[in-house]
Amino acid sequence: MKIPKVIEKNVAPETMLLPYLRKNLRLTGTKYGCGGGGCGACTVMISRYNPSTKQIRHYPATACLTPICSLYGTAVTTVEGIGSTKTRIHPIQERIAKCHGTQCGFCTPGMVMSIYALLRNHPEPTLDQLTDALGGNLCRCTGYRPIIDACKTFCKTSSCCQSRENGVCCLDQGVNGVPEFEEQHKISLELFSEKEFLPLDPTQELIFPPELMIMAEKQPQKTRVFGGDRVTWISPVTLTGLVEAKFKYPQAPIVMGNTSVGMYAGIKGMRHHARLNFILGLTLGASLSLAQVKDILADVVQKLPEEKTQTFRALLKHLRTVAGSQIRNMASLGGHIMSRHLDSDLNPLLAVGNCTLNLLSKEGGRQIPLNDQFLRKCPANDLKPQEILVSVNIPYSRKWEFVSAFRQAQRQQNALAIVNSGMRVLFGDENGIIKELSVFYGGVGPTTICAKNSCQELIGRPWNEEMLDTACRLILDEIRLPGSAPGGKVEFKRTLVVSFLFKFYLEVLQILKRMNPGHHPRLADKSKSALEDLRPRHHWSTLTYHDVDPKQLLQDPIGRPIMHLSGINHATGEAIYCDDMPAVDQELFLTFVTSSRAHAKIVSIDLSEALSLPGVVDILTADHLQGVNSFATESFLATDEVLCVGHLVCAVVAESEIQAKRAAKRVKIVYKDLEPLILTIEEAIQHKSFFESERKLEYGNVDETFKMVDQILEGEIHMGGQEHFYMETQSMLVIPKGEAQEIDVYVSTQFPKHVQDIVAFILKRPANKVMCHVKRVGGAFGGKVVKTSIMAAITAFAANKHGRAVRCILERGEDMLITGGRHPYLGKYKAGFMKDGRILALDMEHYCNAGSSQDESLWVVEMGLLKMDNAYKFPNLRCRGWACRTNLPSNTAFRGFGFPQAGLITEACITEVAAKCGLPPEQVRAINMYKEVDETHYKQEINAKNLIQCWRECMTKSSYFARRAAVERFNAENYWKKRGLTMVPLKYPVSVGSVVLGQAAALVHIYLDGSVLVTHGGIELGQGVHTKMIQVASRELKMPMSNICLRETSTETVPNTNATGGSMTADLNGLAIKDACQTLLKRLEPIISKNPHGTWKDWAEAAFDNSISLSAIGYFRGFETNIDWEKGEGHPFEYFVCGAACSEVEVDCLTGNHKNIRTDIVMDVGYSINPAIDIGQIEGAFIQGMGLYTIEELSYSPQGVLYTRGPSQYKIPAICDVPTELHVSFLPPSENSNTLYSSKGVGESGLFLGCSVFFAIRDAVCAARQERGISEPLMLSSPLTPEKIRMACEDKFTKMIPRDKPGSYIPWNVPV
Ligand SMILES: Cc1cc2nc3c(=O)[nH]c(=O)nc-3n(C[C@H](O)[C@H](O)[C@H](O)COP(=O)(O)OP(=O)(O)OC[C@H]3O[C@@H](n4cnc5c(N)ncnc54)[C@H](O)[C@@H]3O)c2cc1C
Ligand code: FES
Ligand code: FES
Repeated sequence: MKIPKVIEKNVAPETMLLPYLRKNLRLTGTKYGCGGGGCGACTVMISRYNPSTKQIRHYPATACLTPICSLYGTAVTTVEGIGSTKTRIHPIQERIAKCHGTQCGFCTPGMVMSIYALLRNHPEPTLDQLTDALGGNLCRCTGYRPIIDACKTFCKTSSCCQSRENGVCCLDQGVNGVPEFEEQHKISLELFSEKEFLPLDPTQELIFPPELMIMAEKQPQKTRVFGGDRVTWISPVTLTGLVEAKFKYPQAPIVMGNTSVGMYAGIKGMRHHARLNFILGLTLGASLSLAQVKDILADVVQKLPEEKTQTFRALLKHLRTVAGSQIRNMASLGGHIMSRHLDSDLNPLLAVGNCTLNLLSKEGGRQIPLNDQFLRKCPANDLKPQEILVSVNIPYSRKWEFVSAFRQAQRQQNALAIVNSGMRVLFGDENGIIKELSVFYGGVGPTTICAKNSCQELIGRPWNEEMLDTACRLILDEIRLPGSAPGGKVEFKRTLVVSFLFKFYLEVLQILKRMNPGHHPRLADKSKSALEDLRPRHHWSTLTYHDVDPKQLLQDPIGRPIMHLSGINHATGEAIYCDDMPAVDQELFLTFVTSSRAHAKIVSIDLSEALSLPGVVDILTADHLQGVNSFATESFLATDEVLCVGHLVCAVVAESEIQAKRAAKRVKIVYKDLEPLILTIEEAIQHKSFFESERKLEYGNVDETFKMVDQILEGEIHMGGQEHFYMETQSMLVIPKGEAQEIDVYVSTQFPKHVQDIVAFILKRPANKVMCHVKRVGGAFGGKVVKTSIMAAITAFAANKHGRAVRCILERGEDMLITGGRHPYLGKYKAGFMKDGRILALDMEHYCNAGSSQDESLWVVEMGLLKMDNAYKFPNLRCRGWACRTNLPSNTAFRGFGFPQAGLITEACITEVAAKCGLPPEQVRAINMYKEVDETHYKQEINAKNLIQCWRECMTKSSYFARRAAVERFNAENYWKKRGLTMVPLKYPVSVGSVVLGQAAALVHIYLDGSVLVTHGGIELGQGVHTKMIQVASRELKMPMSNICLRETSTETVPNTNATGGSMTADLNGLAIKDACQTLLKRLEPIISKNPHGTWKDWAEAAFDNSISLSAIGYFRGFETNIDWEKGEGHPFEYFVCGAACSEVEVDCLTGNHKNIRTDIVMDVGYSINPAIDIGQIEGAFIQGMGLYTIEELSYSPQGVLYTRGPSQYKIPAICDVPTELHVSFLPPSENSNTLYSSKGVGESGLFLGCSVFFAIRDAVCAARQERGISEPLMLSSPLTPEKIRMACEDKFTKMIPRDKPGSYIPWNVPV
């Protein structure tokens, strides 16, 4: 393949590789997901030739942080470069697609490139290398399992789990030694066939361009200077050149990895190497990447005695978790040290290790210690402006010297530490008297800080418990963290400070005992479990679905695990998303200016400076939209009052994105704060700030029953919100056609009709002039409905006003700020129950934080009330719900739509009832479950046969009772680690709420060559709806899928569509397609019967010749569903999806860390149209739910400002969070007469099963509390983060920390 050569004469120093690839080179396979190195969507491979070592280094890098100036002489490989459908696809691209590792596909090119870079260096990687390579890539759809499966096909090792977590390996009989459940039907375990895969042939890979090699060898090395408008980039090629440049421009930063400098380019540093000094230690070049440092250290610790390598080992431990593979390959050691981030993982270790920094300037070289003064940037011990850091000396550790590293983050990998620490002790001799002690912490101050005085005081002490107690007291006294400290989690941080110290104490004690058994006491059995860290292990999974009937025609794809039809296009980067569309002639860019206040009057807006900037075309305010500034319940641009931070105030329209963004910063808005400021649910209740009145359902007689029950309990649970974090941010491109008022809107939306309506409204023209087109959406999860339409309307207004195309693409931070997400909930419950656990009466209140506008909040509340029973029959039930109006960005639809919150509240209540009765929660769940034929609280009949079957099967498949006993054994033997096991049932009612909203339509054309075009009203969000729809058309027309095409969803072809969501898009549109196909078949029947062996081409031509129309619309009027809120009864749901999940976790009681050991999921999906897609939906939803309930935490300031605006602050599950064992199985197919081929929609339901992890953690925490004799009831809120886990596992350390009186300080954040 010819490698394209790029010669760029005008390199702007501020330009990053990502926009350059996407806009200048039109290579749009590399995606924008966050712009900050945190998501991996923009991963490319960079290859560099080193003329001195004659070696080529290939490494993954995030294009969003790579300045193009830094790429001189390198080869950059993008996803387009490794394979394409036009030439040959690469085996990685093929396998990720065929293993069903793509859903929306937006993360896929980044995943492909991370694996590609790995395979270039390790053609047969180990599982460790594999998971490590993908640690920096986020996927919001798949749940990672299929991606891991695809990658595993490249590993040399067998597909064994390599895990004996529960004492048994997967290759032993059955799942965990428990024989497989007896199946009546034939079951399938394979979703893909490895035999079909193209082999990986490393000799076929692109070679490093010889031209670049020759250039590196031969070309005279000279300093390169790239000048820009605002920044100059200088790339010296020798150390002297660098020193000279630094002398000339002392204030210019040295750009190495640029992972900390960000956009501000300066002088490019150079790469130097490692040197081992056999007397002193290791000298590492400052410009080595962290990945190279990791490799060097890994090598050195193999070669040297353990005694000498204590610091190296500690560094290695952290280097395994620092960021993701891309950042580790880009970031330099020098940049890391010099950035002196407060949460740097390496600086605390380098500081305790007595490292020194070798500096160089024109005046010569000198050394400074990397100590607390350097970290505090004390001028006396810092670099002078002209100096550069050349290398770092890391001394060998000495005999009787021990170094350890600790860190705790929100997520185990690729997450900055909340607190980290480096600790070192040197003993005088084997008797364990402290000679030197050094303890540094990160995350607890403005920079890495040292507990210097405490360490000094402890010198001369023996290493015993008394010393530990004193050390904890001294350190807590020395490292004071105020209650209002930035980052919050203050008590957790204080606890970690001493918990880490305890871990260090035990680690060292254990070694001392080993080295001098006579002198030191044996480590108490109780303490041993404090030592080992929880580490993710290799993943393995089993998937069980049911094969199609052997009599089914081979060509009929229904029920078969067909790959997502765009899978290959996702993997090659050829799939086109909204922002991948080429620029239209004279296109403008629109960006929003949003409110910085949560509730304020707009006193004035001064646009003059912004308007005067180059390239600015217009700035729209509410004045421009008079008369059209609101639609239904939503307003567009703020008029005289702002209601939340992130409220849209004006829209800047400019010739380019950079110009628009620059101008937006210059819009001056003067605010006057208004009262009240309502952020939390509690504040809304206090101010009675609600949208409309309460919603209520009542069944039986709650008050009377309360008089008869054995016990009554009252409780509440708070649940935080969730950010959609679709990988493709909100995107739209509006193109006026220039004729007859026609306008085209290309937008990443779930609801094209709404976009059409709202645009027609704002432009005051009929809907038939506005056409909305959606090819595909890079994830939505409910977040691309209402706000998307509003932004599209404003963009359309601008486009229409100027008669030019306008593009609007939100940055990740803007998107998170503006768009809102899942509603935070407060659930209050009063349950009346009997001693045996039967709940006879339940009074429930739901409050959701709706934010500043109504959006879909009332509907969410209603769905929450209708679905709150989950799997249980509460014979007397009253539930009421309110949507709280607050000064937060409006919350909106999100996968599950109220059920994940309502269900959690119910499960929390059940768990508490079980605790009160002294019964296992599973027993109380089972006893309260619906019986086979029953009635819900809104009087809809329910047959709970499948629910009960899922529950029983999950019990069996997960070997629940055997594992419960094992968990109890483990807990009895381990004081500081606890395991928890929980099983949760699921009954997810499915419908879209009414007949009207269930309408669907489709259009099927047959062309004269026999090919077919299908269109329908659903949007491809990654859930595979288009694939399923083609399967439907294929079955109905008895035609191979390859003959059928689906191009886009458009209001032009199928009008008046409903929103895509609510799990039913395939159900509804599939019935419409079936209808259209049957109409066509009926018309063609005489022709086909005349020529039964003809081809579709023959039939189409014959039909044409006989003037028979080859185009048909199909329609489905919607399921007969209804609910009467006055009476509180009806038939609101068409069917129920049932399931159960059993999860096991292990918790580190000292750090709050947890590990997902195993999850078993059993689901009733009816008859699956496509098991691969359905399993993907279930797993993806489960992992998203696990994120919701355990790690995803939004933080707001007391003034209502969202802090968490990107993947660095907001953690969605990454590959490390996938349960080590994941088993998904389906019930045998069951009849479901009304639905499409008896299938059930499973897009949303699996999300709730993520709460099995929440309750498993709770179970583990309860075990810890029980052992510690804590009898107070445990009140836990969601998400159950490391902070909450740690603080609930109360012990002497949590008791030791200082506590601030509530009200005595302003907290950094408020739970909303
Ligand atoms: C997504 C992401 C995740 C991360 N996760 C973690 C994590 O988990 N743990 C962690 O500890 N860190 C983490 N980091 C921070 C990362 O480790 C640092 O950003 C990185 O090490 C900085 O190195 P760099 O080469 O990119 O520095 P640059 O950004 O290139 O430079 C940083 C600073 O160092 C100065 N500098 C660089 N080299 C020299 C030199 N030789 N002499 C003098 N001055 C110099 C520059 O002038 C500049 O001021 C993360 C960063 C990102 C983007
Ligand atoms: S876009 Fe570059 S890492 Fe997210
Ligand atoms: S497929 Fe990974 S983000 Fe959608």
